[in-house]
Amino acid sequence: MSTVSPPRGTSLAPRIDGERLWGSLMELAAIGATAKGGVSRLALTDLDRQARDRVIGWLREAGCAIEIDGVGNIFATRAGRDPHAPVVLTGSHIDTQPSGGKFDGNYGVLAGLEVIRTLNDAKIATRKPVGVAIWTNEEGSRFVPVMGGSGAFAGVFPVEKILAERDVEGVTFGDALDAIGYRGAAPVGGRALDGYFEAHIEQGPILESEAKTIGLVTGTLGLRWYDCVWTGEDAHAGPTPMESRHDALQGAARFVEAVNALALRFAPDGRGTVGFMQVKPNSRNVVPGTVRMSVDLRHPDDAKLAAMDGELSAAARAIASDLRLECELKQVAQFAACRFDAACVSQVRAAANAFGYSSREIVSGAGHDAVYVARVAPTSMVFIPCTGGISHNELEDALPDHVEAGANVLLHAMLARAGIAADRP
Ligand code: GLV
Ligand code: MN
Ligand code: MN
Repeated sequence: MSTVSPPRGTSLAPRIDGERLWGSLMELAAIGATAKGGVSRLALTDLDRQARDRVIGWLREAGCAIEIDGVGNIFATRAGRDPHAPVVLTGSHIDTQPSGGKFDGNYGVLAGLEVIRTLNDAKIATRKPVGVAIWTNEEGSRFVPVMGGSGAFAGVFPVEKILAERDVEGVTFGDALDAIGYRGAAPVGGRALDGYFEAHIEQGPILESEAKTIGLVTGTLGLRWYDCVWTGEDAHAGPTPMESRHDALQGAARFVEAVNALALRFAPDGRGTVGFMQVKPNSRNVVPGTVRMSVDLRHPDDAKLAAMDGELSAAARAIASDLRLECELKQVAQFAACRFDAACVSQVRAAANAFGYSSREIVSGAGHDAVYVARVAPTSMVFIPCTGGISHNELEDALPDHVEAGANVLLHAMLARAGIAADRP
């Protein structure tokens, strides 16, 4: 496909090697590959270790110094001419959802690797150092909170809280980190950053439907996550009359409906999802006495998100009272709607324009490590389209030309901040 290529004769240099980047993406996707073409590589599993080892190997071969901090965040640095200058950082995550794809997170990390390789090939010395971060547990699927590694880096979460989080099997984050050998010696946070750019697939339908190559990401939706436990009473499915039951799953089912209805009341920007549920005792002839479930609410307007929170609590109370159940609803993660740095957004726009790529401003519906890094450094993101807007799905896909275009924009946005040293190595 040539629609996103710059006009012939355009000599904007350097340019990344799209085929090499695509090859790295496919090689990394083999670690935890699923039968349907996706990736299942939960945070701090042995597959995560294998992926970390592989990417660190590539970054070392590209001449980077590697540091690992106390929550397993990885920092690869290519030195600049000014040894005191703060680093111009990029990165993302390589953990995936249980039925995840090849691109979510992985693209941002490998686009960063490709930036380093391209600078090496072009023998470019930058004034400031440039770096690639691999943040731990962005997905929040195995351990709450989402974006835990970057959040700890930004001082949003105490390190001890992150290390003490448990997965559904009861394994702590800290033990899982030790088991894969990735509890590093570097302090968590306190690293001087000149700026941060993160490349990512859009994970939604807008760029593709408008035939735009690059999303200039101005911010993200706010998010609130809840753990909800419905408690009723285990009972025999045969002799227990319908009117005397305390069926926790009935409460959960009504609550799923309530979450969807409330998100629709906040249309078009509100989102409400129940994605996790555990039914106990989970036996076909027992009225369920306990259900544990998650709720994910999102909105770009913090006041509206707070209103959604109020309606959620009211719905839980009403359902519990109606069905004679107990309901414990606890908020376990949240971040406010985020606005990225205007200068960083302009640097992304300038890079996209220089290549002649079509672009538009866009607000991210997904959370990203950039949300927390934005608390400690000027930040923006580069989005590329993904096929059908599909993500958190094994079928997640992106076009090679878009993958290449996004990395070219990332490279030039980073160079705009890092500066090219007058002399070459
Ligand atoms: C991150 O994957 C999110 O849930 O937005
Ligand atoms: Mn992601
Ligand atoms: Mn994700």
